Amino acid sequence: MSADQHAAQAFHGRSVVSAADFTKAEVLALLEAARQFDRFDPGGPAWGGLAPTLSGRVLGTLFFEPSTRTRLSFESAMLRLGGSVLGFADARISSLSKGESLVDTIQVVEGYCDAIVLRHPSEGAARLAAETARIPVINGGDGSNQHPTQTFLDLYTIREAAGRLDGLKVGFMGDLRYGRTVHSLTEALLHFDVELKFIGPENLRLPRDLRDHLRRHGRSGLEVENLQDAGDLDVLYMTRIQKERFPDPMDYERIRNAYRVDRAALAPFGPDLKVLHPLPRVNEVAPDVDSLPGALYFRQTRNGVTVRMALLHLLLGGALPLEGGA
Ligand code: NCD
Repeated sequence: MSADQHAAQAFHGRSVVSAADFTKAEVLALLEAARQFDRFDPGGPAWGGLAPTLSGRVLGTLFFEPSTRTRLSFESAMLRLGGSVLGFADARISSLSKGESLVDTIQVVEGYCDAIVLRHPSEGAARLAAETARIPVINGGDGSNQHPTQTFLDLYTIREAAGRLDGLKVGFMGDLRYGRTVHSLTEALLHFDVELKFIGPENLRLPRDLRDHLRRHGRSGLEVENLQDAGDLDVLYMTRIQKERFPDPMDYERIRNAYRVDRAALAPFGPDLKVLHPLPRVNEVAPDVDSLPGALYFRQTRNGVTVRMALLHLLLGGALPLEGGA
C-alpha cells in the first residue's frame, strides 16, 4: 500500500474541523485524490464516466451564514458523485429561529444524512457539532476561526499553478484578523517550506493565538502594512475586509478602500505572480487583474468542486486509486 493510500484511509468517517488537524501526509493524500478526480472530464455525463461512488448517500448542508461557493460546490461535488443533498441556506427558515440549539439540530439532522457541512457564525461551532454527531461534520467556516476545505482547494490551486508548495514566498493581504481562510491556510502551510508574509493594517493583524503558534514554530513571517514593503512574492493571497465581523462599523469605513490591488500595483512582482482570493471580492482586486495569467481566483472556485469530491469520497469510505484513475 502506498503512503497516499494509507493516509487516505485516515479520512474514513472523520470530521473536518480545522486544517491543522491533518498531517502533511493526509493533506498530500487528499490533493492526490483530487488530482485523480481532475483526470475525469467534467463535460461528460455525470463526471465524465467516473463511477458514481456515493450513490444512495446523502449530504446535509446547514448554512447559518451566507455562502455561494462553499455550499454550491459541496452540492455539485455530492451530486456529481451520484449522491443527494438536503439542507438549508438560510437559518431563518430552520427551527433555529424558534430557539432550537445547534446540538439538538445536529442530533436530528444526523438521522437524515451521512455527512454534514456546517457554516456557522460562532467560532468553535464546528468542533461542538463534530463532538456531538456520529457522522462526519465538515466545517464550512466557523466565524472568523477556520475554513479548512477552502484551504485544501487553495493548496491544490497553488500546487497546480506553481508546480510545488515547497520553496514559495506566500503573502497574505487584507483582513488577517477576521479572515478565516487566512488562518486555515497559514496553519496548513506550516507543513511546507514556505516563507510567510503578512500585509495589512495594524488593527487587522493576525490574531494573537495564531501569531504565538507561528512563533513557536519559528515561522513568524514578515509583517508589513504596505504591499511595496513585502519584498519578493510567488503567491499573493488577497482577502476581503470582513465587514460583518467588525464590532465598530467606523473601523471598517476607515480601511475599506486601503487594501486594493490593480495591475499596476502587481507589476513589480513580475509575470509569474499567482494571485488568489477565496471570493467574494468587493473592491480589493481590480477587474484589470482578472486577465493576468496568474489570476487564479476563478480557477480556485473550479477546483473547489474537485477537491470537495475527493474529500467526500474519502470521508464516506472511498479508497485510492479511483476506479479507472491513477
Ligand atoms: C470566504 C469565507 O466565507 O470565509 N468565502 C468562501 O468560502 N469562499 C471568504 C469571505 O467571505 O471573504
